Amino acid sequence: MEAEHIVEMRGISKSFGGVQALRRVDFELRRGEIMGVVGDNGAGKSTLMKVLAGAYLPDEGEIYVDGQRADIKTPHDAFRLGIGMIYQDLALFNNLDVARNIYVGRDLARGPFHAFLDKRRMYEKAEHLIRELKVDIKSPKMSVARMSGGQRQMVACARAMAFQSKILIMDEPTAALGVTEANKLLALIRHLRGMGVSILLITQRIPDILAIADRVFVLKGGRRQDILEVGQVTLDDVVTLIVKGKAPAAAEGVPEMEFRSFG
Ligand SMILES: Nc1ncnc2c1ncn2[C@@H]1O[C@H](COP(=O)(O)OP(=O)(O)OP(=O)(O)O)[C@@H](O)[C@H]1O
Ligand SMILES: [Mg+2]
Repeated sequence: MEAEHIVEMRGISKSFGGVQALRRVDFELRRGEIMGVVGDNGAGKSTLMKVLAGAYLPDEGEIYVDGQRADIKTPHDAFRLGIGMIYQDLALFNNLDVARNIYVGRDLARGPFHAFLDKRRMYEKAEHLIRELKVDIKSPKMSVARMSGGQRQMVACARAMAFQSKILIMDEPTAALGVTEANKLLALIRHLRGMGVSILLITQRIPDILAIADRVFVLKGGRRQDILEVGQVTLDDVVTLIVKGKAPAAAEGVPEMEFRSFG
């Protein structure tokens, strides 16, 4: 039986020296949704997602993928569970073409030391992927060196999808993009959802979230504030939650009536 949530994180804490980046954060992602992840600078967005992607080991807390307890200690553990992350400081190899960037480090190799990389197969697969994702890249043989920021993001998406990511985390993918390129990337993200991928989208651009996400997760000071249904909130609601956080009474779960009965 399929679990309702493809990802559940329970009580995740993480500190760096004296900095408490995450405080007992609970988080859940539904199958096939786009979840916006928002919060001010330093709220803990990247740290939480890096914990899910196996880049950081949490100090405490548990992760469940597809209802099963997941022991994610390395990026490779996450990869095997179908979790892919495109990092904020997106790294592509400028000296390699599109296909090689998609398959680098995970060569469709034959034999030891990747000596017999199956080149033809690699280009065919890359070409197929580019078409399937409907991305704006003419050929897998194009060099990425002179590509626009948007095209580079698309290459990174293709890389994640080449290995059947079920869960894709993107950290500020539109931050450096102009309006047209950002819109193309948002269309690709929607397309990926249509293919059944569950997507975590970290962004400071709240209107993007309102345009394409199903729900939005708000962090502040390393604490979960809330998860909101995008269809039920305004831009103002989200911004207020990011800046001011949840009202203490509501956050603590104290019923308001108890206070009123004394007044
Ligand atoms: N590798 C690290 N070493 C030390 N401190 C870190 C490290 N990574 C994150 N932090 C600290 O943890 C806190 C949360 O950082 P994080 O990068 O998760 O925030 P963020 O919400 O992604 O912010 P931004 O919007 O600026 O990317 C910050 O105070 C940050 O300085
Ligand atoms: Mg960040």
